[in-house]
Amino acid sequence: MKVITSPVEIQTVAQDFRAKQLTIGLVPTMGFFHNGHVALMKEAGRRADKVIVSLFVNPLQFGPSEDFDTYPHAFEKDCQIAEDAGVDILYTPNKKDMYSEEFATTIQVKGLTSGLCGGDRPGHFDGVTTVVGKLFNQTLPHIAVFGEKDFQQLAVIRQFVRDLDFPISIIGYPIVREANGLAMSSRNSYLKKDEMDAALCLSTAIRYAKNLVRKQQNIAVSDIEKKVADTLLKHSECTIDYIQIVHQNTLQNCTQISSDSILLIAVKINNRIRLIDNSKLTGG
Ligand code: PAF
Repeated sequence: MKVITSPVEIQTVAQDFRAKQLTIGLVPTMGFFHNGHVALMKEAGRRADKVIVSLFVNPLQFGPSEDFDTYPHAFEKDCQIAEDAGVDILYTPNKKDMYSEEFATTIQVKGLTSGLCGGDRPGHFDGVTTVVGKLFNQTLPHIAVFGEKDFQQLAVIRQFVRDLDFPISIIGYPIVREANGLAMSSRNSYLKKDEMDAALCLSTAIRYAKNLVRKQQNIAVSDIEKKVADTLLKHSECTIDYIQIVHQNTLQNCTQISSDSILLIAVKINNRIRLIDNSKLTGG
C-alpha cells in the first residue's frame, strides 16, 4: 500500500489508473479505523480495480465547540488496517494543502441539510460537501463508498453529486454493529465503561421501534417517536438531540409508516459524546 500526501501526486496517480482503464473506488474517512471502515474498504475493492482511502480530519465540518482538536487518531495502526483490507493507496493530505489561505469556496446543499444533524451542527454539511467535492476531484473515483450510519450525510452527498454532475456512483453501505448492537463509530472510543452501557440505548430503542411496527402496522408516527424517547430517557446519561421518522430520500417527516420510512436518532451521552444511529422500520 502506498501512502500519498500531495493532492497533485494523488491526481497524477489517479489519472494514470484511468489511462490504464482501471476503475477507482474511493472511501473518504477521518481515520481511527474500525471494522465499519474495513467493510467500506472491502466493498470498494469488490467494485473497483484500485481502492483509494482518504484520511483527513476536515476542520471545515467541525463547529467551534466540537471535537476537532481531540478527534481520535492512530496513524500507524490505520496504515496496517488499510493495508490488510487490500487498500492500494492511503491518501492523507495536510490541512494547508487542502485549504490554502486564499481558499474561498463552499459547496452547499439546501433543504436536505437544514434539519436533523444540520439543525444541531450549523455549517457541518457545507464542510462535508466541500471536502468531499475536493477529494473527488483529487482522486477521480468511478465509485465512492459511504456508511449508512451517517444517513443524512449520504443523502446530502448523493444530492450534490447529482446536482453538480460528478460522474461518480455513490454506494451506501449498511451500518456495521458491535456484537452488543452499538453502531461502530470512531467516536465510540470516547465512551467510558458506564457510558458504553448507556450508549446501547440507541440500538435498543431501534429494536423496540421495529417491534412496535411489526406488532401494530398502523401505529402513529408520533406514538413511535414518543415511545422511543421514553426508552432513551430511561438512561439518565442520555439527552436527545432528535428522534425523527422520515422518508429516506427526501428526509421529510413521514405521516405514516411505509417501506420508505427510516428512524433517525441523535443523542448525547453525558452532554459530551454525540452518537447517531438509524434504521428502516419495516422488513429485516
Ligand atoms: O463521514 C466522515 O468520516 C466524514 O464526514 C467524511 C465523509 C470523510 C468527510 O470528511
